[in-house]
Amino acid sequence: MSSSTYNQTFHIGGSPHAPARNVEVHATPEEIDHLVHQGYLVRESLLSPETLDRLRTAVDEVAASERAADSDYTSNSSFSGQFLRHLFDKHEAFWELLNFAPTVSVARAVLGPAVQSRLSARITFPGVANQQTVWHFHERTVPRPLPPLFVFPHSLDVLVYLDDLTDESGPVALVPGSHLETGATLGENDFEDKPDQVVLRLPAGGGVFIHNNLWHRGMASGENATLRRMLALTYSSCWLKNVNDGTPPENGLTKRLLETADQETRELLGVAGY
Ligand SMILES: [Fe+2]
Repeated sequence: MSSSTYNQTFHIGGSPHAPARNVEVHATPEEIDHLVHQGYLVRESLLSPETLDRLRTAVDEVAASERAADSDYTSNSSFSGQFLRHLFDKHEAFWELLNFAPTVSVARAVLGPAVQSRLSARITFPGVANQQTVWHFHERTVPRPLPPLFVFPHSLDVLVYLDDLTDESGPVALVPGSHLETGATLGENDFEDKPDQVVLRLPAGGGVFIHNNLWHRGMASGENATLRRMLALTYSSCWLKNVNDGTPPENGLTKRLLETADQETRELLGVAGY
């Protein structure tokens, strides 16, 4: 967790009667500048041991309920592992991350005060070598040539690691500054090291903020691979349409939450604030 915070007050332009919004940003101005220009920000410790325990249990429960009987998730595909989507709809334990100040305040500092969030997970398994992903980035919506009034899709992921990120479980690699490109030179099925890549190994409970246009990949698990459970907490302006996650479950848990939710929670769930 960042040891220092600062206050940022936002006024919405053109809306003289809209209340000002104050955000206590859990970062230093220098860290925010690094996130904006390098496209990432490392946090060695985001979660308390108790929260880490609760989130591990919740991930395990959802993963078990969705694990396909006919797959052991060991294929060496471009995106190996088990993926879970729409987690706020699948387990109440994840609601702890819905208005989680150490992450949402940083998202508001760089995206503006009204953000929505969603939560996914990727799991790779013990004893299975070479589970990895190709180089990729998340907002694959930028056309070439770049139209002059194109709305560039700024959004943010916080990759939160529920297990130690090591050479055995598979570190994460990223290319600083690559979010400022449009990604056109990133080829298909690219597993190769990049000359300017940064490789991160983190303790369980740590994580990294990445801009969603940043090139990154989950590197291969080792011969003695250990369990690697990662949450991806995604933030975008509440008026930006979500892509890539498929349709939410029909009777997701957040329907009940919305019956009594305050304005901020409704905004974070993507149904208000625009
Ligand atoms: Fe990714």
